[in-house]
Amino acid sequence: MPPADVRSLHVLIFGAALRQGSLNSRLAELAARTVERRGATVDLATMADFDSPSYDGDLEAEGMPEPAKEFCDRLKAADAFMIASPEYNASMPGALKNLIDWASRMRPQPLNGKQGFLLSASPSMVGGNRGLWALRVPLEHLGARVYPDMFSLAQAHEAFGPDGRLANDLLQKRFDETIGCFLDLVEAAMRYPGLKKQWVEFLGEKPNPATDRTETNETEAA
Ligand SMILES: Cc1cc2nc3c(=O)[nH]c(=O)nc-3n(C[C@H](O)[C@H](O)[C@H](O)COP(=O)(O)O)c2cc1C
Repeated sequence: MPPADVRSLHVLIFGAALRQGSLNSRLAELAARTVERRGATVDLATMADFDSPSYDGDLEAEGMPEPAKEFCDRLKAADAFMIASPEYNASMPGALKNLIDWASRMRPQPLNGKQGFLLSASPSMVGGNRGLWALRVPLEHLGARVYPDMFSLAQAHEAFGPDGRLANDLLQKRFDETIGCFLDLVEAAMRYPGLKKQWVEFLGEKPNPATDRTETNETEAA
């Protein structure tokens, strides 16, 4: 039991495939069960909740699309996020990259300083892991703190038992333990909020108010 003065962590979790019966949605649901067992609360979403029209500056001038806004709101309400993403052609699905692009336009920029954990599931032998390396790039560019370990479920079409858990007990144990380590880090980071604030899109570039995209401790305080 956590001490009474520690509020429980709140984690946004979703699978990044749009289709019904997605292996990544099943992995996201399994992650949600593990997170809840560790005493955190979960906002379990689907990619359909956030699916947005292709980013278009003219559309943006009319206002952020509702699904992208919803993603930003739910991300902002969470202490951390977990994405179970399919690998499409050694990268991430276009719908997910598009959502990240929309989110990058929101101020305050909601991925900045947010702790994230990445998972993937694929029938392949490496579980879609290459896609997660691609996914790290825009997330880290936007200041998200992406956990070093990633869980890629290989041969995912055969990996789940009838109860939704991983049929291989040792794999399920590694899954639970890795997520537990991530939650410990999220909790530790929350106690030292000063560690994770500043985001300057292109560090080292000569500062220029016309092109700067920054969120610093000063802008937060202002
Ligand atoms: C457009 C497309 C591209 C894909 N590219 C890859 C790939 O590069 N690597 C891989 O392991 N699987 C690839 N797959 C297979 C997916 O991993 C598989 O369909 C998986 O079940 C998709 O995730 P989901 O079950 O959550 O929908 C691809 C599937 C599609 C539809």
